[in-house]
Amino acid sequence: MILLTGATGYIGSHTWLELLQAGQRVIGIDNFINSSPKVLARLEKLSGKKLEFLQGDVCDPVFLESVFQSFPIKGVVHFASLKAVGESYSNPLLYYENNISGLIALLQVMQKHSCHHFVFSSSACVYGDPDVSPVKEDADLKPENPYGQTKLMSEQILRDLEKSDSKWRVAYLRYFNPIGAHESGMIGEDPNGIPNNLSPLVARVAAGRMEELKVYGNDWETPDGTGVRDYIHVVDLARGHVKAVEHLLSGKPSLTVNLGTGVGYSVMDVIRAYEKVIGRPIPYRVTDRRPGDVALYYADPSLARDLLGWCAERNLEQMCADSWRWQSQNPMGYES
Ligand code: NAD
Ligand code: UFG
Repeated sequence: MILLTGATGYIGSHTWLELLQAGQRVIGIDNFINSSPKVLARLEKLSGKKLEFLQGDVCDPVFLESVFQSFPIKGVVHFASLKAVGESYSNPLLYYENNISGLIALLQVMQKHSCHHFVFSSSACVYGDPDVSPVKEDADLKPENPYGQTKLMSEQILRDLEKSDSKWRVAYLRYFNPIGAHESGMIGEDPNGIPNNLSPLVARVAAGRMEELKVYGNDWETPDGTGVRDYIHVVDLARGHVKAVEHLLSGKPSLTVNLGTGVGYSVMDVIRAYEKVIGRPIPYRVTDRRPGDVALYYADPSLARDLLGWCAERNLEQMCADSWRWQSQNPMGYES
């Protein structure tokens, strides 16, 4: 059985479905700090299976102990963390507490129960502003914000743990920019409050929930002057986790891989692709650069292909089409 923490979140919910469809038994946990319990009924409908789920906090060792006593857990996929870069500047202690204490509490309980397979949600933000793109896994690690620091520190904690006991097997998955939604339109990204990321903002402008999109600068050193990122469809990303779980459970060694497409798209490329999907213009206005942003980065995903046999399959237009299906079928997210 696989334990998913942060199971009702954006990437967690899509991964849960893919794991079930791949024949894995899953127990999900989440404290709903950034997700809705309504995800559960949607996932039951999509999977045709009764879900196993417990509400609780990964920072709570008593709760975690009860989870491990109740279920035969062979491996853990750890999504639960806070992820808003801006908030991590204004409230760093909250980020270090939740993301680091939660990780340590979880690893301690796993160790006690001799469960040594761990898939970790790392991030391209561990590279900071990379010197070259495509970015390879051995690039310098220099995160630029407290959130990114929690990801790098988590990686360091896990690497020290691996050195202390050879039974540990860890998949360090460094995600680039996940966007899109399940093709059913039943599950998708539904951040609490005002979104910070490009894709949910474009979706809201397309739906008329916001008047216009701010494009943060068109004077970057990129082909069209707007920021370039490696957007990856969330279902492709979820399938990368299925591969990582299968890899570790089959006794193969730890690995550190980028999960991206290897293609960089600009903010204007995303706007144009979305306009093509919805058949009308997306109102936007170019503003000043957002503090802390970088011009361009995209992944070299070839190591994930070689070690996991995984490649992203969906293109930008599919990402935008699936994002729009989710947005238009659920104008107010899970509260619709
Ligand atoms: P999300 O906020 O949608 O999901 C995280 C889930 O974890 C939420 O459901 C939240 O309620 C839960 N959670 C947070 N703290 C918890 C705690 N202490 N106990 C129990 N549950 C808790 O975020 P997401 O986009 O699905 O991201 C999943 C993981 O991937 C995170 O670790 C994130 O840092 C990482 N990541 C995300 C991105 C991205 O752009 N979405 C990029 C790189 C890495
Ligand atoms: N952008 C805009 N307008 C907006 C929002 C974003 O022009 O309203 C631009 C940004 O300037 C950037 C691009 O769109 O060029 C992507 O921005 P996002 O906020 O969607 O994503 P980031 O690349 O800044 O960061 C995201 C997550 C991080 C994560 C990182 C991993 O927020 O947590 O991807 O690659 F670490």
